[in-house]
Amino acid sequence: MSTYLLVSRSTEYEARLRALLGSRLSVVTGEFLTFGADSVLEMVTDTPRIVLLGPVLNFEETRDLTRGLVERYPDVGLIVVREQRADLEDWVDELSLHAVLSPLASDETTRDLLDRLAGWLVSHGRAEESDFAEDADAETESDAQPDAPWSSLFHATEAETPADAVEPTSSTAPEAHDAEQAAEATPEEPEWLFPPLDPSVRSEALAVIAPKGGQGKSTIAINLAVGLASFAPNSVVLVDGDLQFGDITVALALEPTRTIVDAVAPEAVADELVLKTTFTHHPAGFFVVASAPSPELGDEVQPRHLGALVDRLRGIFRYVIVDTTPGLGEHTLNVLEHVTDAVVVSNMAVASLRAVRSELTLLTTLGLMPVNRHMVLNFSDKMAGLTAKDAASIIGTPIDVEVPRSSAVVLASNRGRPLVHDDPRDPAARALQELVARVAREDTTKRTRIARRRRILEPQ
Ligand SMILES: Nc1ncnc2c1ncn2[C@@H]1O[C@H](COP(=O)(O)OP(=O)(O)OP(=O)(O)O)[C@@H](O)[C@H]1O
Ligand SMILES: [Mg+2]
Repeated sequence: MSTYLLVSRSTEYEARLRALLGSRLSVVTGEFLTFGADSVLEMVTDTPRIVLLGPVLNFEETRDLTRGLVERYPDVGLIVVREQRADLEDWVDELSLHAVLSPLASDETTRDLLDRLAGWLVSHGRAEESDFAEDADAETESDAQPDAPWSSLFHATEAETPADAVEPTSSTAPEAHDAEQAAEATPEEPEWLFPPLDPSVRSEALAVIAPKGGQGKSTIAINLAVGLASFAPNSVVLVDGDLQFGDITVALALEPTRTIVDAVAPEAVADELVLKTTFTHHPAGFFVVASAPSPELGDEVQPRHLGALVDRLRGIFRYVIVDTTPGLGEHTLNVLEHVTDAVVVSNMAVASLRAVRSELTLLTTLGLMPVNRHMVLNFSDKMAGLTAKDAASIIGTPIDVEVPRSSAVVLASNRGRPLVHDDPRDPAARALQELVARVAREDTTKRTRIARRRRILEPQ
């Protein structure tokens, strides 16, 4: 009996799912959708318990399929397999879905989601436990990856209250105070709310974010650009996305002639050569897209312009780094839709750490969490009355890089020099290099490939 049904246009995804589910999976390829959703549904002979739709199905196709499936099999569990995009919210709002799963999710994450949805269907009398019994050939080829991305999320269906929906956090996401207690009880094995980086996804565009101001975003963005430029000279661009009060050119002692306002102007949108003239070159071998010359001009840059700019820059540079304003304003949300990595920054104050936790939760719920995440604890200090472990428990994710408080940071900034150049042996500089190595982990081992891929831009 086929418990699971996949309707998809990706043979690669089909093969992956088959390796996980064996003969419990039946597949109808998306080509049949050419003749309408009904022709796909007519091919389904057994009663599926869980249906996965996608990847590579459009909204209309998915909508027609969900409607048809719910009509025929009212108890069915529905999962859309789709990348995290801004319009995902609309899909979730309009379709009767139980979950959204990224096609990049590891086998472990996928299996976890399927198991939890199965458990929910059984507990709500929509299926029998025996429906999900594993057969002999399931799991044989599955390749467990401990570093699962947080790429699946659950939502209430239209017909149900959120309380009825499968709750992703029930087993792994205790509230902040519970997390602290859990950490105390089992300090060696915390249950992270936001699992760490997926090593299979390459970094390309990074947004440096923090819910609160003054946490060190700009410092980190600048030093990332300098560090990455040593791996990919002249193929790194740093965008000052703090449109009103950006200070990157000041911190780098640069005097830009053009700014982000020019970079999103129609002339630059129409012509890549014009776009390139808006960059300011730094001698360390990277480019800067400077912030607007005044807050009023900064206001003219629309959130979607910023997102589109990130996309265009990704076509030109190996690494795009975007410094942002504090919080999750429209501009930052737009940027997050277009990046592969989030570098999340917090100091050691409990209020900041709690705010990070809320920010990560919101991003996950919105489906806007980039595939890779690097959690940076800045201003780390033995005198703070909190350890990095405590900080991690409050946030719900491990700390990836701890940058100590250091007077060398301010000194370097006042000199208009990036810290990793100004005082490379300073503990904060070393920590920032650690972050660079983490982001450039592919390049550290495969420098030659970069040489091939690099697209040199002449300094103006
Ligand atoms: N590890 C550190 N040790 C000491 N000082 C630091 C450290 N990191 C950043 N600073 C200093 O803290 C101040 C704030 O840093 P920065 O401007 O990078 O934060 P930000 O998050 O970009 O702030 P904003 O939200 O205002 O944009 C700066 O003066 C910077 O030099
Ligand atoms: Mg800043």
